[in-house]
Amino acid sequence: MTANPAILHSLPADLDVLRLPKHVAVIMDGNGRWAQRQGQPRFMGHRRGVDTLKELLRCCKDWGIGALTAYAFSTENWGRPMPEVDFLMTLFERVLRRELKEMIDEGVQIHFVGDLQALPSSLQEEIERAMLATQHNEKIKFVVATNYGGRREILQACRAIAQKVSSGELNLEDIDEGMFEQHLYTAGISHPDLLIRTSGEMRVSNFLLWQVAYAELYVTQTLWPDFDRKEFHQALFDYQQRHRRFGKVK
Ligand code: IPE
Ligand code: IPE
Ligand code: MG
Repeated sequence: MTANPAILHSLPADLDVLRLPKHVAVIMDGNGRWAQRQGQPRFMGHRRGVDTLKELLRCCKDWGIGALTAYAFSTENWGRPMPEVDFLMTLFERVLRRELKEMIDEGVQIHFVGDLQALPSSLQEEIERAMLATQHNEKIKFVVATNYGGRREILQACRAIAQKVSSGELNLEDIDEGMFEQHLYTAGISHPDLLIRTSGEMRVSNFLLWQVAYAELYVTQTLWPDFDRKEFHQALFDYQQRHRRFGKVK
């Protein structure tokens, strides 16, 4: 099998192009600590975090990784001080508006997953616009988890299925893993192969609870705003040393 030279372009020599993860998910943690360490208010970390995400998306695209999912805001993050929540909502909206043209030009297909109806209506409009405008793009899927909670996602899937059963649209025997997944926010998107968390915390914080069942986990002490191409290279290198057994023996 010959590798596509366009994909090989700029891929570090110690990475195997045929064994790259197809889908990478990131818990972008540590923005607040990053800012505080420099004596700056927390929001400066969020602002820098956007640049980091943009660079990671570009890197995934350059290296031929088909999907990137980023955890931007959890269902629990509403519990933060109101000024920080407001700042984040405004930031998401501004960034989306600012970056849309470039995403269209670069072949990015953007998706948002989460309980989107609870977001400010002006943000919902930008989300709608961006998803519609990029729906036929094929270079890379970029999934942004906003007001996302794994438990909430599973619950709403259960409710939707229960409703179909009670209306007779579905039979109890029809419920299997494949059909359950079609009721998750991530329907039609492959499971992540690699889950990266920055800032050293060893937890999943309600992220993609169903989908990461067999993802490889990679935790780095690096705070999200400092997670650059070199760090991502390290994560991919580490991933390629793993033996994914999926419960089987070799
Ligand atoms: C992650 O950074 C960004 C969001 C949760 C929106 P944090 O804001 O959690 O930063 P730390 O963990 O407090 O340093
Ligand atoms: C997880 O980070 C959520 C996002 C990155 C959006 P948190 O900072 O909210 O997670 P905890 O509170 O450390 O578990
Ligand atoms: Mg945090």
